[in-house]
Amino acid sequence: MYTRSSLLVALASLASLGASQKCKLQFDGRVPTGFAAAKFDAENGIFNPSNVVGKGLKLSEVVKTPAVNGSLMAANGCDSSTPKPAPLEVTINDQSIFEPSATNVQVGFRRAELLIASNTGTDASTTGVKTLHFSVMKDAARPLNLTHEYQLVFLEDAAFSTNQFVLKTGAIMGGDAAADPDTLQLFGNVNSQPLQTLFSTKFTEGVFHNFAVTNDFDKKTTQVFYSQGTAALKEQTKALANDNSGQGQFHFGVLKKGLGGNGDPKQGTQEADIDEGIIYGGIFMEDSSTGCVSLSA
Ligand SMILES: *[C@@H]1O[C@H](CO)[C@@H](O)[C@H](O)[C@H]1NC(C)=O
Ligand SMILES: *[C@@H]1O[C@H](CO)[C@@H](O)[C@H](O)[C@H]1NC(C)=O
Repeated sequence: MYTRSSLLVALASLASLGASQKCKLQFDGRVPTGFAAAKFDAENGIFNPSNVVGKGLKLSEVVKTPAVNGSLMAANGCDSSTPKPAPLEVTINDQSIFEPSATNVQVGFRRAELLIASNTGTDASTTGVKTLHFSVMKDAARPLNLTHEYQLVFLEDAAFSTNQFVLKTGAIMGGDAAADPDTLQLFGNVNSQPLQTLFSTKFTEGVFHNFAVTNDFDKKTTQVFYSQGTAALKEQTKALANDNSGQGQFHFGVLKKGLGGNGDPKQGTQEADIDEGIIYGGIFMEDSSTGCVSLSA
């Protein structure tokens, strides 16, 4: 339940806006229509041009701009004179072997992820109360292999010791073996026992799955909102206790874990000749310290 004051704040901010943004933005990961792929390889003020991508690959080679309509929040925060931000697809192939250092060649994973340019790991996106928005959609032409576990969106702490929350799909290691792998599952801090499933839903194809995840980094809580297509987001949980301390960076992409590798970046089997991807829309973060959370575009 919203408190009366936060509801009034939310209504006031709705009323003041019209077509422009509803809440103060912390960062914006929406790219304009026509944003050339090559721009991903140089400083562009939206995404980090260097990470996370396989050694020898450039982001422009793995990020596509598919011809699908924008997600719920594609245009939120943009006035009508601005082109609607284009969806992005992050893809992996056999070369998607990340090598952050010569002694850390991640042959057990195939991965590519976008990081927000301003999200250094110690910036304000992981302090106070912030709501992360993103939408995910399958690409029928580049299906995932649900025998594997995938991480799609996650916050990795600045010490690289945990994910404070993570959206997974596929056959989740340590999960219920009878569970349908074709499910989106949002987990709390993966180092906490027992592991907390914050929210899950069937990963239906042909539609955007819209998420808003509010993290109160002072109270150490996480709250989930969700909808499909252009429907307004609906509250799915209250603010649940979740250890989201440790700051860090938000990742948006495809991280495919090796079969039998127990989550070790250097272990597990990966079949060859893969071409897999996930479509993203409406990535941005708003400041929810006043209770402001945008639920519709
Ligand atoms: C995009 O949306 C428009 C208007 O709602 C619709 O006519 C069109 O078919 C959609 N295009 C795609 C690729 O879904
Ligand atoms: C899916 O992954 C499994 C395990 O790595 C592999 O045996 C199978 O061939 C893969 N399927 C496809 C369609 O690539």
